[in-house]
Amino acid sequence: MAAFKWKEEYNLNIEEIDKQHKKLMEIGERAYDIAIIDDGYDRYDEIMTIIDELLEYTKYHFEYEENMLKEYNYNHTHDQAEEHEIYVNKINKVSSREDIDENQRKIILEIIDFLSEWISKHIMIADRGYAVFLKTVV
Ligand SMILES: [Fe+2]
Ligand SMILES: [Fe+2]
Repeated sequence: MAAFKWKEEYNLNIEEIDKQHKKLMEIGERAYDIAIIDDGYDRYDEIMTIIDELLEYTKYHFEYEENMLKEYNYNHTHDQAEEHEIYVNKINKVSSREDIDENQRKIILEIIDFLSEWISKHIMIADRGYAVFLKTVV
């Protein structure tokens, strides 16, 4: 899916952060691969693996960013943390749904939707904001 292919405009030119964002897109790409196969096979285990991995990596990435921003006294750290919390809550909500098995397709599309929104809204706007700031202080 086009949204999950790394583009020059996604680069914040902070090596570790770009690496982590790439990893998140790779998870999105895998979710998309599952969504487009229509062979009637049960994908429950694969979907659960993706959700778990997404949750775990998201928490890791957000914590990393927030610690980095605190360290540099970025004045929008709180806004970053608030947006992050919304995303974590969204994944938590998906992961605790009891109808994942019956609604596999719907769930995987929700994950894709969620990740592409995250890329276009959070990475491209909020994260870009701190990247501009960090360039002035580092
Ligand atoms: Fe980020
Ligand atoms: Fe962020």
